Amino acid sequence: MQQAYKLSKLYTLLNESGIKDTYFHTRIGANFPILVDLFEKLYASHPYKEEAFQTLTNYIISKFQERSASQRKNDIERSKNINWYASEQIVGMMLYTDRFNKDFKGIQNKISYFKNLGVNTLHLMPFLEVPEPENDGGYAVKNYRETNPKLGTMEDFENLTQNLHKNDMNVIVDFVLNHCSDQHEWAVKAKAGDERYKDYFYFFSDRYLPDELEKTMLEIFPDTAPGNFTYLQEQQQWVMTLFHTYQWDLNYKNPRVLVDMIDTMLFLANKGVDIFRLDAVAYMWKDVGRFNQNLPEVHTLLQIFKLCGQIVAPGVAYIAEAIVAPEEIVKYFGEGWAQGDECDIAYNATFMALTWEAIASQNTDLLRKSMHSVPKKPMNTTWINYARCHDDIGLGFDDNLIRELGKDPLQHRLYMLSYYCDEHHTWGRGKRFMQEPNGNARLSGAMASLCGLEKAMELNNEHEIQLAVKRINMQHGIILSLGGIPMIYSGDEIALTNFYEYTHEEDKKHDNRWLHRPLMKWEIAEHLDQYPIQRSVFDNLQHMITVRKNNAVFADRNDLRFIESGNSHLLVYEKRADNGKVVWGIANFSHYETLFPGWFIGMGRQVQNLLTQEKFIVQEQNFIGAYDILWLAVED
Ligand code: GLC
Repeated sequence: MQQAYKLSKLYTLLNESGIKDTYFHTRIGANFPILVDLFEKLYASHPYKEEAFQTLTNYIISKFQERSASQRKNDIERSKNINWYASEQIVGMMLYTDRFNKDFKGIQNKISYFKNLGVNTLHLMPFLEVPEPENDGGYAVKNYRETNPKLGTMEDFENLTQNLHKNDMNVIVDFVLNHCSDQHEWAVKAKAGDERYKDYFYFFSDRYLPDELEKTMLEIFPDTAPGNFTYLQEQQQWVMTLFHTYQWDLNYKNPRVLVDMIDTMLFLANKGVDIFRLDAVAYMWKDVGRFNQNLPEVHTLLQIFKLCGQIVAPGVAYIAEAIVAPEEIVKYFGEGWAQGDECDIAYNATFMALTWEAIASQNTDLLRKSMHSVPKKPMNTTWINYARCHDDIGLGFDDNLIRELGKDPLQHRLYMLSYYCDEHHTWGRGKRFMQEPNGNARLSGAMASLCGLEKAMELNNEHEIQLAVKRINMQHGIILSLGGIPMIYSGDEIALTNFYEYTHEEDKKHDNRWLHRPLMKWEIAEHLDQYPIQRSVFDNLQHMITVRKNNAVFADRNDLRFIESGNSHLLVYEKRADNGKVVWGIANFSHYETLFPGWFIGMGRQVQNLLTQEKFIVQEQNFIGAYDILWLAVED
């Protein structure tokens, strides 16, 4: 009954719209019944569900009408190549527009820089209108339909995306959907007592429910924003704020919120977005008595977002920013009948954190063990492989796996933190982030500083400089060869070290994640001849990108396999292309050269290291230098 009624309404609306596009008609016809079901699953007994669904239908139609001819054409082309984002041709870089080169026009002026390096996919960090000075690096959006005026207008952003597209580049944009700023229009109305908008958030008149909810909620910034609720003095009410006090959690139990946020996302899609990074998705649904991460309702919500996106703008892909346990991350690709119908891409967060653990311990046991326990992801989905990003590195590895290796989980983490942060006895120059009373913490710091380059350069220690550079190259070599989108963190291509000046800025000084959000140093990037160390990192990265793009085996076809080489210093993996071509990645996490066995390739076979062109005959044991990475392909 539900379905039939809604379908007949849909067809009336479609007729009235005058839309002739047969692809759109097919998409909406095929997906609408699923949308009705998913909506019903969440809001079966909600009083506004009919009205909200009606609005959603209108939004879907009008957002398709607003989609430009070239976007529609691109949508169709991409539907013929649905996992375009898993290609070996895709190489990403994430950057803050202002910190990289001032504004949108500044990014446009650097297209040749990206091209020269080989980067063709830009993740532009949050650029929408935010309150100043505090906005969590753009993650507290005041207006989703206006850009931050410091960076340019929405028209400038559209010009930028059009220009990037002309240059065969893609744009990734954050969609901050778990929360908005307390200065967003909805929050302002809610503060003024407007009941409709109070229901867009989680408001409480006393502590009873907040106290109950706290029992199953994680704290995200326990040092700087303790507790998950903020008291509003004037209103004498509590509001839910998982992140900072000025980031208000949106109440997705209200279908109007979902519908308005879908419309917002589609509005942005029509500005030229290729891939959305869906921010902090794990927290989108909260309930008393239930752990507030990864609830099944979150997955239904994401399936609805994706489905609406598929109907209106099927060329757009979605990244789940869910920094949770690997077995939970995989669920964001969709499970069961929804396999592949949720997010297309997710962060390979555990892998990233474990590579830092492996560098600290010169041992890959935990990394390998953890990778073997990750469930396989569905076909046509892929990872973002990264070594650093704008956030801290969380040491959220599985305690049981650490214990199985005979280590104490806390002591092991403390060792790792000390390796990176206590510089009197190591080379790392990281900082502890959100330290807990037992000493456990997360980790901040630029890649080059964590790898020891900052200190080594300061002491002019040639040997340590070489080792640090090799660690950086190895990290880049790994993310480029695993299959998936390698995401280079801007500045790492020229080995920028920690940015200590963040402490001079009032709004940043309490958040040491700004340590690794440096201002781009064009005086280095544009004069690499005068900076041999940075130049070697840049050249090496550029070269590896070229090799990746020339070898289709580096596309992600769900073909990655980790190999147990018997040597705990090594990470060995195999990638196998459709044409039978195999590449073995071998990374040595040790300070010294070591040996890798030849059995997994085949003794006596001739191999070539794709990175150096060197050829050799595989022996029973073969040498690999300290922090070297090899991409070996069989010659015959
Ligand atoms: C994501 C972002 C992080 C931000 C948080 C709140 O985790 O990566 O930088 O603080 O969401 O939006």
